[in-house]
Amino acid sequence: MAPTLALLLLCQLALYTAVASKKGCDRPILSDGMNTEGLQRFYSPGDMVALSCKIGYTTFTGSRHIVCTASGEWTKLRFKCSSISCSLPEALDHGDMELMDIQYQSAINYTCHEGYTLQGASTIKCLADGEWSEPHPKCLPVNCGLPPIPKLGKAVYDRVFTGNTTVFGFGVTYQCLNPLVLIGNERGMCLSNGKWTEPPECKFVSCPAPKGIPNGYMTTDAKREHGYKETVRYGCNLDYVLEGPLEIECLKTGDWSEKPTCQASCSVDIKRGRILYRGKKIWIENFTPNKVSHKELVSFYCMNEEKKCGYAVSSQCIDATLKIPECFEEPGKWSYLAYSSYLPSEIKQC
Ligand SMILES: *[C@@H]1O[C@H](CO)[C@@H](O)[C@H](O)[C@H]1NC(C)=O
Ligand SMILES: *[C@@H]1O[C@H](CO)[C@@H](O)[C@H](O)[C@H]1NC(C)=O
Repeated sequence: MAPTLALLLLCQLALYTAVASKKGCDRPILSDGMNTEGLQRFYSPGDMVALSCKIGYTTFTGSRHIVCTASGEWTKLRFKCSSISCSLPEALDHGDMELMDIQYQSAINYTCHEGYTLQGASTIKCLADGEWSEPHPKCLPVNCGLPPIPKLGKAVYDRVFTGNTTVFGFGVTYQCLNPLVLIGNERGMCLSNGKWTEPPECKFVSCPAPKGIPNGYMTTDAKREHGYKETVRYGCNLDYVLEGPLEIECLKTGDWSEKPTCQASCSVDIKRGRILYRGKKIWIENFTPNKVSHKELVSFYCMNEEKKCGYAVSSQCIDATLKIPECFEEPGKWSYLAYSSYLPSEIKQC
């Protein structure tokens, strides 16, 4: 068994040496896009290989043949294949293009923006002959019919146009005949779904006769219905302050806007002491008339027992109520007369 195996190995070695010593060429290295029929692993001197271009590539230049020389090298490759490209596509209005390149077999994907529909193929391919498979598509605006028009109103077109259709984005402004009031959208538009926005309504609006307010009056005594946007003014009786808007307006809803109120003034309910009012210190018996308007401030004097000093605490009149600060102590009748100079309002201030 052993001698047979040794003989076999010897034979193989001899064969290998014979091949290696023989000059020849290895498989030629082809560049991109090149093709040849039946590539071998090894070529003998004098062997010729015919080259061609793959589909999607075009013959650029030179001889198609290379020959294996005696030195074991191929003759210089003068042949070139260049890839086929399609024309650069034009920009798409109102849409987007997706593409990697424009060579053979590449594709362009097309999509349209909202309100536009694609006319043509959504994908086109670059063919081997350098033409696109289909014409470049377009994005055409969605069509709407004519805008709806409210009864007793009209639609004013943004642009002059003729025909029966409008395009996406086309707008109108609605108007109502006088004295009707437009309720709803003043502007209308052709939408991306081919429909118009909801038109407004033209309505007659009136508000009921305005009512008076407690402790106040209306500057008009017109107890009648009022039309849209008509106004009525209010005022307050003496010693009352108006809070809220000076006038009310008849709204689209047929209601009046919110009415103001009249807020009462306050009196300072202490018998003895001194107050600070409008920047002046006043003895209460000299405070005449004893009246503080709504929202006005009055300060009372309190005593800091620890430091033996006085300090002012303010209070605001809110609709007839003026709270006296808790720290305020009203002096007794006798001390008020005899020791008024020791009151918190008269001593050193904290
Ligand atoms: C085009 O769309 C297809 C399918 O959605 C996708 O596979 C392809 O990658 C797209 N091509 C480009 C260039 O974006
Ligand atoms: C508009 O539409 C009406 C009815 O749909 C049709 O009779 C008329 O001819 C159209 N006009 C135009 C300019 O297309």
